[in-house]
Amino acid sequence: MRPCKCKCNVLSALILLVTFLFIASSVHCEDPYRYLTWKVTYGDIYPLGVKQQGILINGQFPGPQIDAVTNDNLIINVYNYLREPFLISWNGLQHRRNSWQDGVYGTNCPIPPGRNLTYAIQVKDQIGSYFYFPSLGMHKAAGAFGGIRIWSRPQIPVPFPSPAGDITILAGDWFKLDHRRLRRLLENGHNLPFPDGLLINGRGWNGNTFTVDQGKTYRFRISNVGLTTSINFRIQGHSLKLVEVEGSHTLQNTYSSLDVHLGQSYSVLVTADQPVKDYYMVVSTRFTRRILTTTSVLHYSYSKTGVSGPVPPGPTLDIASSVYQARTIRWNLTASGPRPNPQGSYHYGLIKPSRTIMLANSAPYINGKQRYAVNGVSYNEPDTPLKLADYFNIPGVFYVGSIPTYPNGGNNAYLQTSVMGANFHELVEIVFQNWEDSVQSWHIDGYSFFVVGYALFIHMYLIYFFLSVC
Ligand SMILES: *[C@@H]1O[C@H](CO)[C@@H](O)[C@H](O)[C@H]1NC(C)=O
Ligand SMILES: *[C@@H]1O[C@H](CO)[C@@H](O)[C@H](O)[C@H]1NC(C)=O
Repeated sequence: MRPCKCKCNVLSALILLVTFLFIASSVHCEDPYRYLTWKVTYGDIYPLGVKQQGILINGQFPGPQIDAVTNDNLIINVYNYLREPFLISWNGLQHRRNSWQDGVYGTNCPIPPGRNLTYAIQVKDQIGSYFYFPSLGMHKAAGAFGGIRIWSRPQIPVPFPSPAGDITILAGDWFKLDHRRLRRLLENGHNLPFPDGLLINGRGWNGNTFTVDQGKTYRFRISNVGLTTSINFRIQGHSLKLVEVEGSHTLQNTYSSLDVHLGQSYSVLVTADQPVKDYYMVVSTRFTRRILTTTSVLHYSYSKTGVSGPVPPGPTLDIASSVYQARTIRWNLTASGPRPNPQGSYHYGLIKPSRTIMLANSAPYINGKQRYAVNGVSYNEPDTPLKLADYFNIPGVFYVGSIPTYPNGGNNAYLQTSVMGANFHELVEIVFQNWEDSVQSWHIDGYSFFVVGYALFIHMYLIYFFLSVC
């Protein structure tokens, strides 16, 4: 049982008896608190067989998993024992009450070396699978990421039977180069090199064994925690039933393999319905000419037969099949979520978006430097963080509307501290356009969103999001 402090104002024993019947609705119960203390240090890791300086949390690589229940308050005191500033981004956690804590540079200050900072985050009205990662200085290439599971409260039905096990898979590309050398490459105007390998939960080829009992069903929560590449996930001889994407229960389609792009988290159910032996669990890179692959072992209890046969191949360069798959992923609008959306209904389809914003990425040269831009605006970091400027009403730091809500046709890019306005409780449709020839991922920080459409043109992705501003 979770500890729960109840503030009950009981007038008499009689009333207590009556209220007992209505206990769920009449007792004001403070949401539980979970206290965590994290020590962030350097430490030697050998994920691809060579020694590297990793970034560990409480001595662990990947970092510890966070388990929470909807509405829990997480109080995480993080000590930075590194020689550089450190900042954690809580990917997918909404920050309706605490956007000071979102861990994005510009709204949140990094933790200076030798200091600690306590993050106070309420996972208000959230369920599902997410992860955290360090958001400064290429630290993500050294570790300090980990899974976040938010369980539904006991009284909220989950649209599938309780699985026999719940297993987090943090997969992604990995570089043998130290994070500082990777950073120097970028600072000197180079691109990142091609990754050296893929990892599953911090380990390379057959580095993990997940044990299952024949006939039982397990939930795997797969996140792509890498830096540069989309991955494909599959399990030899088994199908994947998709049930949840970043906090939304989905229509339960079955796939033989799933593309997981950077930053995405998917939950699938896997039934151990094959003969008792060991099977490959595979991740491989997507849209890359050279294909990196790594495996773990799905081990059936009592199996005496190790993994065998060829590692099942997955899709590689083909883009259309990936877009087709993404288009089959739909929100189950009648399945339970943590709560209705702010507009008061689960049926987003019935709410009219108040406007459409179109965002196009580009890679222009500005003053002779390679920059990246959205709608022709390359973000210029102000000296004063935006949240501070907003809170203390400091003029001259930014102005609302300093980025157009539609692409400007491309080449006339400029530097600007871009800020776009939105209204409280507004439901906005956002269309992302990618005219470049590489896959782009967007991190929409601190908000609830779901992809509602997806289209492929020649060299162009169109992704529609609904962003609900709460
Ligand atoms: C740092 O840790 C100490 C000891 O736990 C705590 O009292 C203090 O509030 C923390 N400081 C910050 C800024 O979180
Ligand atoms: C959506 O969720 C509801 C409630 O759990 C369930 O009855 C229904 O079968 C689901 N629909 C699909 C298509 O998965």
